[in-house]
Amino acid sequence: MQLNVLILPGDGIGVEVTREAVRVLEKVCSTFGHTLKLTEGLLGGIAIHKTGTPFPDETAKLAVEADATLMGAVGLPEFDNAPPEKRPEKGLLGIRKVLGVYANLRPVKAYPALIESSPLKNHLVEGTDMIIVRELNGGIYYGTPRGIEGSGDTERGTNTMTYTRAEIARITRMAFGLARNRRKKLASVDKSNVLETSQLWRKVVNEIAPEFPDVELEHILVDNAAMQLVLNPKRFDVLVMENMFGDILSDEGAVLAGSIGMLPSASIGDQRPSGAWVGLYEPVHGSAPDIAGQNKANPLGAIGSVAAMLEYSFGLMKEAAAVNAAIESVLNSGRTTADLKPEGAPATTTEVGEAVANAIQ
Ligand code: IPM
Ligand code: MG
Repeated sequence: MQLNVLILPGDGIGVEVTREAVRVLEKVCSTFGHTLKLTEGLLGGIAIHKTGTPFPDETAKLAVEADATLMGAVGLPEFDNAPPEKRPEKGLLGIRKVLGVYANLRPVKAYPALIESSPLKNHLVEGTDMIIVRELNGGIYYGTPRGIEGSGDTERGTNTMTYTRAEIARITRMAFGLARNRRKKLASVDKSNVLETSQLWRKVVNEIAPEFPDVELEHILVDNAAMQLVLNPKRFDVLVMENMFGDILSDEGAVLAGSIGMLPSASIGDQRPSGAWVGLYEPVHGSAPDIAGQNKANPLGAIGSVAAMLEYSFGLMKEAAAVNAAIESVLNSGRTTADLKPEGAPATTTEVGEAVANAIQ
């Protein structure tokens, strides 16, 4: 099979972790006899520096043409005070929208080898295995009106959270479908005791539930969900929620996995006629400027995102399983980066990437 993949390393540690993810992808292709065609593009702060905009038209074109896009991370401290329109993050929101990837799948798994890396008690974390399904194309991230206007005491900032029935329905069906192939439990997270968007969300989820009679559905308020995630994470199988709730709760998931550096993500949209999903793959973590360029970032979230790409965009289940098995074997070997608090000297980003690539079989 020929894999046409666009690489967007982005900013900060995005560059380092993406390099290792590509190393692993190349190893998979040579081991399993696939042809890999890579293109590279600009997104985020680096794109602002080189072209004046965080999401150049050229990048949009490359992303639409590619079978799948692998991204590092975006964000640079020098843009901290810039308005949202001129920030690196705008590039990420732009590409998510242009590709129409409305479902962001963020699996959170507690690997046995990492049980000591989580600050939570072992018995709470052990056996955690869930997928957070975050709506990615709507909600308060994109809603209008938005902006800051006026001055003095009446200067006012506005953001708008909106959801249509269609937007809620498609992400709900995606989440139910995933639950059906797992432990058949879906938790829909909302704030329906306060927000109208959440009331519509809950209504639409309930309307769709009869299509999936084999899946057990619960509704849970987002504040309670935040607490349950650390009190009893094992109760969750698949969770579905709107964009910003998903952003927040998925970082909490990092505490269960031992480090945010561990979390991969797949952002998928519609299925192509071939059955492949349009997809954007990126680790959950950010650009971490404080450790950028030091070869110490954990590349496993980025490498896990390669596994997700092989599965969803290429239907290569065996290859995806090989990547996940290689990650697990490296974790078991104890050669991990500093964020996972290994005994003895931590391994570098490159060493972990090479170890995973060597473990592919
Ligand atoms: C994430 C990130 C992004 C988001 C930022 C960088 C715009 O936090 O993917 O979780 O908020 O979606
Ligand atoms: Mg986030």
